[in-house]
Amino acid sequence: MNAYKLLYGPQRRFGMFIHWGLYALTEYHEQILRRTPMERDDYEKLISQFNPASFSADEWVRQAKEAGMSYICFTTKHHDGFCMWDTQYTDYNVMHTPFGRDVVKEFSEACKKYDMGLGLYYSVPDWHHPNAYNPLSTHQLPPRPSDRPDMDAYVDYIKHQITELLTNYGPICCLFWDIPPHIDDPSLNELARQLQPGIRINDRGFDPGDYSTPERHVPNGAFTRLTEGCQSVGRQSWGYRRNEDYYTARFLESSMDTILSKGGNYLLNIGPMPDGSMPPKALELLQNVGSWYKRVTESYMGKYPSQLFSDQTAFTVTQNENQLYLHFNGYPEANGVCLRPLDILPTEVTLLNTGEHPDVALDVIPTLFMEPDGQTPWLHVYNLPFDELAGEVPVLRLTFESAQQLQKYTQASAVTEAIF
Ligand code: GLC
Repeated sequence: MNAYKLLYGPQRRFGMFIHWGLYALTEYHEQILRRTPMERDDYEKLISQFNPASFSADEWVRQAKEAGMSYICFTTKHHDGFCMWDTQYTDYNVMHTPFGRDVVKEFSEACKKYDMGLGLYYSVPDWHHPNAYNPLSTHQLPPRPSDRPDMDAYVDYIKHQITELLTNYGPICCLFWDIPPHIDDPSLNELARQLQPGIRINDRGFDPGDYSTPERHVPNGAFTRLTEGCQSVGRQSWGYRRNEDYYTARFLESSMDTILSKGGNYLLNIGPMPDGSMPPKALELLQNVGSWYKRVTESYMGKYPSQLFSDQTAFTVTQNENQLYLHFNGYPEANGVCLRPLDILPTEVTLLNTGEHPDVALDVIPTLFMEPDGQTPWLHVYNLPFDELAGEVPVLRLTFESAQQLQKYTQASAVTEAIF
């Protein structure tokens, strides 16, 4: 399994996406300018109202860490063009608000303190910059009369800003471009790599980058390159929304588990409220999902996706040499599983969610009686407390005596090596 690679290595799999800008004040959606008739001139006046008195980067990063996360990715500039750091290249930035604090700097200090990675999101569409209009791309607003569309000038602006962001805030683990510009220009990623050797760059920029970023869905099949799934706690928005429909913890765990068990990373998004604090429902979800994640995390850390039981729909599998982890990320139909083709007993079976050891036996299963191997005793795990655990994804660990014991089965099931 030497070909197995991870975005940031085995320990850094789960991160927090944070969408924050002037749009928080509207309590509607980060793209309010594109999704309602609101005028840009009116939106831009929000700059004089941005004063999130309860904001503490330390508290955000601490909560993320407490949930088992190991990095954050912060929106330095969203499509509205408003910059959350002390940039020299536009006055449309957080230093020109009553708040007057460099939010990126505060996040970088908190990340350093808690040993968390800091990733930076940067939107290529920019609804404020006079040169930014790009007819090749999506998420554009028609230019205002005072605008002077000029992509070369705008790309220079981006380069200046990326230079600031990748120079002034310590180590940056990823650059998350948003909305592909459909302009080929590898020089932007080259610049980023020069400034931050080792940085990971996503696939929404000026070249294919290092990793893909499926959003709000789980792609079918094995991942063919490094992958980080992203998902918001809210169904309708990434920025804070007052009337949000929050996902259930069970849904979020299921999508997380599916992506993590295929070897991907997972970025879970929360948008700060107008006062900078975390929406109470989002905090509750984070704590809920985090508590589950910490109990099952060993099933992803240093474990790789396995093709064993690939005909099973009830669960997916990760493994290392002598351990298998069954992830019941669908809706379990019954409280037991027959693990054909395994016909040996593990030395230990543990339900990671609760620490308990369910019943296990080698059983001839009556429903298989018509099969050619219907009289073989297969490994059977039963009496699993799935009803009691209805709110979370159960993960079961099976430990076998030796790697050799398991090898026989994994070879037989033609394990395809993960190439990401
Ligand atoms: C989409 C949305 C954007 C959001 C992003 C997060 O591209 O347009 O608002 O920031 O997804 O991945």
